[in-house]
Amino acid sequence: GTKLIIDTDPGVDDAFAIALAATSTDVELLGVTTVFGNVPLVTTTANARRLLQLCDRTDVPVAAGASRPFVHQASRRLSGIHGSDGLSGQAGSLPEATRPLHEGDAVSLLVSLLEAADEPVTIVPIGPLTNIAALLAAHPGVRSKISRIVLMGGGVARGNSTAVAEFNIWADPEAARRVIAEDDVPCVLVPLDLTHQCAVDSVWLSELASSGPLGRTLEAFTPEYRAHYQQVLGYDGMVVHDAVAVAEAIRPGLLRTETYPVHVDTSSGPARGMTLVDRRAVPIEAVGRPVDVAVDTDVDELRNLVLSRLAGGC
Ligand code: BDR
Ligand code: CA
Repeated sequence: GTKLIIDTDPGVDDAFAIALAATSTDVELLGVTTVFGNVPLVTTTANARRLLQLCDRTDVPVAAGASRPFVHQASRRLSGIHGSDGLSGQAGSLPEATRPLHEGDAVSLLVSLLEAADEPVTIVPIGPLTNIAALLAAHPGVRSKISRIVLMGGGVARGNSTAVAEFNIWADPEAARRVIAEDDVPCVLVPLDLTHQCAVDSVWLSELASSGPLGRTLEAFTPEYRAHYQQVLGYDGMVVHDAVAVAEAIRPGLLRTETYPVHVDTSSGPARGMTLVDRRAVPIEAVGRPVDVAVDTDVDELRNLVLSRLAGGC
């Protein structure tokens, strides 16, 4: 099966995404690297390790990465919507991690996993792109070991952190620009426009909660996050952004993509962190590099895939 590495800032939807990969026996989860984002790095790292423990995946190494963006100081806002512990105040329900944190940092773990892999690996960044930009800048030789980068980030017609910028891009636009511009590595962008189409409702979440111990634990992480999305969506439900990217990594082609030039705005103006997706039929003087932008999917199939894997887990 596909070999994958997740770079993450758990985060409620990151928790769903990690559990999805951890319980999917048809893929090989080689490692998890952490980054600041929804909450500070110490917290995202603790959450990632404990989530893997919950899923009985002490075989998966975890390394901590960047605690701040590449160029600018940490953003004022981490994220209020995941609760101060990243999991709606419920992180304490997770087991302690027994596997020690990887001794090296995220970039060194990424390099060693990629170099050791006997076939190219899918990298799934579901937080700010700082670690992946650092990897590509410092170790260009590993590009041939990356089959593709499937990243949750950006928006075609919408933002969330600002009117035009999505959180993972906005949190470190310079890093995102570096990763998206890396033309030797195929890139799939899973933007807000698509993740919102895949939102889950209270019926789906109740099914998850009653599916078993893993589902019950994950559903218990949702209250604060869900309260935010209730306002955004207008009904009781939430968007599992990061799990949509992992689903594509697990089942390549699940998301239908269209190729457009994409550029990340790194100005200091109001468009900072925007993913500028050029959808003109004839993109005269396009800026940006052609990226496979996920535009739609069989939404029910996706929701069922995520639910059935999480229900079968642990
Ligand atoms: C992204 O931002 C974070 O809050 C989520 O975990 C997801 O990765 C959505 O914009
Ligand atoms: Ca995330």
